Amino acid sequence: MRNTKQPKTYRVKSFGCQMNVYDGERMGELLTEQGITPAPEGEDADLVVLNTCHIREKAAEKVYSDIGRLTKGKTQKKAPMIAVAGCVAQAEGEEIMARSPAVSMVVGPQAYHRLPEMIDSAVTGKRVTDTDMPADAKFAALPKRRKSAPSAFLTIQEGCDKFCTYCVVPYTRGAEISRPYVALVDEAKMLVDGGAREITLLGQNVSAWSGEDDKGRAIGMAGLIRAIAAIPDVARIRYMTSHPADMDEDLISAHGEVSKLMPFLHLPVQSGNDRILKAMNRSHSAEGYLKLLERFRAARPDLALSGDFIVGFPGETDAEFEDTLKIVDAVGYAQAFSFKYSPRPGTPAATMEDQIPMEIMDERLQRLQASLRRDQQAFNDASIGKTCEVLVERKGKLDGQWLGKSPWLQSVHFTADVAVGDVVTAELIQAGQNSLGARILDSATT
Ligand code: 5AD
Ligand code: SF4
Repeated sequence: MRNTKQPKTYRVKSFGCQMNVYDGERMGELLTEQGITPAPEGEDADLVVLNTCHIREKAAEKVYSDIGRLTKGKTQKKAPMIAVAGCVAQAEGEEIMARSPAVSMVVGPQAYHRLPEMIDSAVTGKRVTDTDMPADAKFAALPKRRKSAPSAFLTIQEGCDKFCTYCVVPYTRGAEISRPYVALVDEAKMLVDGGAREITLLGQNVSAWSGEDDKGRAIGMAGLIRAIAAIPDVARIRYMTSHPADMDEDLISAHGEVSKLMPFLHLPVQSGNDRILKAMNRSHSAEGYLKLLERFRAARPDLALSGDFIVGFPGETDAEFEDTLKIVDAVGYAQAFSFKYSPRPGTPAATMEDQIPMEIMDERLQRLQASLRRDQQAFNDASIGKTCEVLVERKGKLDGQWLGKSPWLQSVHFTADVAVGDVVTAELIQAGQNSLGARILDSATT
């Protein structure tokens, strides 16, 4: 049954997007500040936070099976206190409470700053649900950032007003909000003070960020990127995920002007067919997307591109799917994510006619992924012989081996006398599907 002992240790298990990884880190920091420490690897945790994702597939079922494993002694010896957080908590919190007596807390993505009070209730045996969505309240209530990995996430924007017809995000994360400029520049400084060299600005619709700078002038994403680039110890900036409709001229120019902004753009297209794009409520055409990429490439010719794709959206014909293969051929993605359409309860597409059978989706996904793999390998092959900077992120599996990232977000492995957080100059000498081998030319550039 439910564990109501005051927890001394915790484990946060995050699923899904980088935003959840960020939220998971912040929940961890909050719990640590309360004197609840991370459970050592391989040991039971007194409190387990399941930080869930609702974007695709049978998300809720996964949560129930995780809860089952935790309570039946399969994941750990003793059943922990359980908190369900994230987007499944937001969407299905009440059902979770009703179906799973072992769950003590259900906490939505905008309410997790209240975890400490919720734990206080849970130890008295009272179960608590908090799925309020106050705009921006949580960030002010979270503790300061202290320690960071060399590559850190910084959520600058949350929620989405785009309402793509397949997507649950506008319902689980709510309306778009932009965090204030000053808070973001401060958090970026704290992250570099704590060891970060690269900052990835996160948001469900990140380029819709808007705010006022410290002089009260209205600025957009590009202005924020320039401000973060002005922090001396920031070596690299990235951002994700963007919608084609919110990419303005200033952001395009920033790719040409701000050397710390890495030559990489994650810009989902979802489909290469205009009828499907319209049914998805994407507000851009295939042609419009390609034209936009041309402008980015004119600003930054070595830009690597990444995208998201959905196959088998309701009503998608074979010919319409072929258009997705065509746009893939036209772009030449350096990497990409591709998914079978998954009906999300409450979204318009879930009740559209002509849901596509699983076998057809499987076949389309295989064909799409074959094209994407081919292009990723081609992109990696074309990198051989290039000299670039690599951010050292962690030790590799082999003795003396290190892993890092190229400016184009490729994983790079090499053997050299370096340390985590160094930025070193490397020659890329060998290309695989998912990573490259490098020779370090100069490790004195940190
Ligand atoms: N089915 C399949 N893929 C989806 N995505 C979002 N919603 C769905 C869905 N219902 C994909 C989109 C989005 C990425 C984060 O997840 O490609 O860009
Ligand atoms: Fe979902 Fe992205 Fe569309 Fe927003 S822009 S509704 S997050 S797919």
